[in-house]
Amino acid sequence: IVPIFRDKSELRALITPWKRAGEVVGVVPTMGALHDGHLSLVAAAKAVCDRVIVTIFVNPKQFNNPEDLANYPRTEEQDARKLERFAVDAIWVPDGEQMYPAGFSTNVSVSGLTDCLCGATRPGHFDGVATVVSKLFLQTSADKAFFGEKDYQQLQVVTRLAADLDIAIEVVGCPTIREEDGLAMSSRNLLLSDRARVYAPVLNEVMEGMAETLQTGSEMSDLLPDAVKRLETAGFTSIDYLELRAADDLRLLQSAQAPARLFAAAWLAGVRLIDNIAV
Ligand code: PAJ
Repeated sequence: IVPIFRDKSELRALITPWKRAGEVVGVVPTMGALHDGHLSLVAAAKAVCDRVIVTIFVNPKQFNNPEDLANYPRTEEQDARKLERFAVDAIWVPDGEQMYPAGFSTNVSVSGLTDCLCGATRPGHFDGVATVVSKLFLQTSADKAFFGEKDYQQLQVVTRLAADLDIAIEVVGCPTIREEDGLAMSSRNLLLSDRARVYAPVLNEVMEGMAETLQTGSEMSDLLPDAVKRLETAGFTSIDYLELRAADDLRLLQSAQAPARLFAAAWLAGVRLIDNIAV
């Protein structure tokens, strides 16, 4: 059975001897409702670390919408059971009081990278992510941290903050795990109605089609009208963004100058889905 820690000082007491013995400690930060995407990060961590800590904390600071926070799936018991198969060393489940005690006043804000995509459409989101991830890095003293490319901008932001703050941690990016029909796995997929679940893969389908055409030299402006029409026909009500950007600094591109990625966020029946793929 995997021990669950809810107290900072107990977590510290667990980790200190590992660090003293020179063991490589890995951390996999999550908000729970674990699926095979999360578990692929756990497997990647287990493969290269002596000790692995999975963190589960639904971080209120990164939700820009109280309803979204309230509806976020919470499945701690099932999560713990899934992690047993991977023999992780600890699950760190702080509550709000542990993470943000009364008087908490520090904010970590990464500029530049956060101006676009989810940073533009979800004000305050990346400050919340950067603040909690900084704390999780320091709470676990991990040597390596594992993040999914599913949230590519987030991966860039946490890589940047670790470098900027001289946190001695290696940020490892891992590929997006998908359902058989191409839908990127996400805890939010649990919120899709049966009907919406049928149409959700259209987002990835449209993106794959665009990527193929972009590789032959097409411009985004030629592809957008048809792509938007296909998404609307599938029932996507509002497209937060559908953009081609440079893989390294996320600058906006019109055509696929290497290496580029295509990014999308769109709403389907009240659920916000995001995806990104290499072009
Ligand atoms: P969460 O959405 O739970 O995701 C936790 C980690 O799993 C992130 O690194 C995310 O990119 C990765 N992930 C999610 N779906 C994936 C998929 N289909 N394939 C591969 N990796 C996937 O991202 C967060 O939580 C939070 O912002 C967090 C970093 C924990 C800070 O609160």
